[in-house]
Amino acid sequence: MTEQRPAPARTAIGIDIGGTGIKGAVVDVVTGELLSDRRKVATPGGGRPGDILEATDRMLDGLREEFGALPVGVCFPAIVKGGRTLSAANISHEWIGLPAEAMFEARLEVPIHFVNDADAAGHAEVRFGAAKGRSGVVLLTTLGTGIGSALLHDGRLVPNTELGHLELDGQGAEKGAAYSAKERDSLSWEQWAARLQRYYTHLELLFSPDLFIVGGGVSKHHAEFLPLLDLKTPIVPAVHRNNAGILGAADLAAAGHGTGKHTAPTA
Ligand code: BGC
Repeated sequence: MTEQRPAPARTAIGIDIGGTGIKGAVVDVVTGELLSDRRKVATPGGGRPGDILEATDRMLDGLREEFGALPVGVCFPAIVKGGRTLSAANISHEWIGLPAEAMFEARLEVPIHFVNDADAAGHAEVRFGAAKGRSGVVLLTTLGTGIGSALLHDGRLVPNTELGHLELDGQGAEKGAAYSAKERDSLSWEQWAARLQRYYTHLELLFSPDLFIVGGGVSKHHAEFLPLLDLKTPIVPAVHRNNAGILGAADLAAAGHGTGKHTAPTA
């Protein structure tokens, strides 16, 4: 067994559970740096809770030996309230109503904090990215399989806004405007931008934001589509793309949001 390194103060593990992969790393939450390599395992088919917990536990193995027992923040593509996952878009329906924090704490035996994936990304941009030091209303959207949203006011998060499910032209906005819709319908950047234009114009009308931040993997191609949008509000790419969820979830866990309160007594 490898000798345990003393964990630097304010260190936590961030885990990002998605429809295709589970990613994780150890984060220095003061600087926002990753202290370990980024681990990735495939999300087990069906996305069921027990299988995902099993895969997450395996992914953490080496990290625990190297860094010791650290709090773990988990970001997840669902509404999360009081440690429970309350919805399941693009993931197994068994997550609906599941006490996910308690379940993960019982198995991993460290404090766990579950948070919506877009909220984690929004929190990461406030701490280490494009929303740092910004006052007013900042709206981050992640464009991926679905659309996630994080609404921030003066750096404080209003959780679980779920603006990807805003009904627009008779359907949930993410059905037409997520990055998956671009791929599914083989849209050019221009065609996709027309759908994004409709979506962000509507968000502007509802929220009068001071800044839009666009995250998700596709935001690395921001030069292809952001300049095509004609909005009153400035719109910028997220600073942290693939690591945003990991950073945000780790920082929330390190801040003591996972308190061990759910830990079940071990048999
Ligand atoms: C889910 C959100 C999530 C977003 C991005 C949506 O379908 O409802 O909870 O933040 O996808 O993963």
